[in-house]
Amino acid sequence: MKKLDIMRQLVADLALLNTKFHNLHWNVKGPRFVPVHEALEDMYDEFFAQYDEVAERMRMLGSYAPAALKDYLSLSQFSELPEKDYDVKEVVEIVHETYTTLKATVQELRDASGDDAVTAALCDDLEGAYDKRIWFAAQQLK
Ligand SMILES: [Fe+2]
Repeated sequence: MKKLDIMRQLVADLALLNTKFHNLHWNVKGPRFVPVHEALEDMYDEFFAQYDEVAERMRMLGSYAPAALKDYLSLSQFSELPEKDYDVKEVVEIVHETYTTLKATVQELRDASGDDAVTAALCDDLEGAYDKRIWFAAQQLK
């Protein structure tokens, strides 16, 4: 995909994930409820900040960022989840899979950035943040 198409998808992904991770934050259950509930809040706060950051970078590049919820559903590579109870292990697996997908997306975006060093640097920052979340989740799944 071209740079701006990947960015459109990423804005939609981050918006959808903000909602999806609220769902997990509200509905995770089990003996490790409190730390997982709190970690999910950190994650959706990060998604919300990154959502704005990627959208504003699109504006700097002269492009509009997608700004409608209905467009996020069609543009995002992620799916929403039903509201129900989720076990901690199930949540950690979703977290691991989500960040692995996001990491691949920002790697693709960096590769598509060409001589746009600012977007490439943004991808580096995002990849570092995603790597840390992947490590946290992988350690919990051992
Ligand atoms: Fe909350």
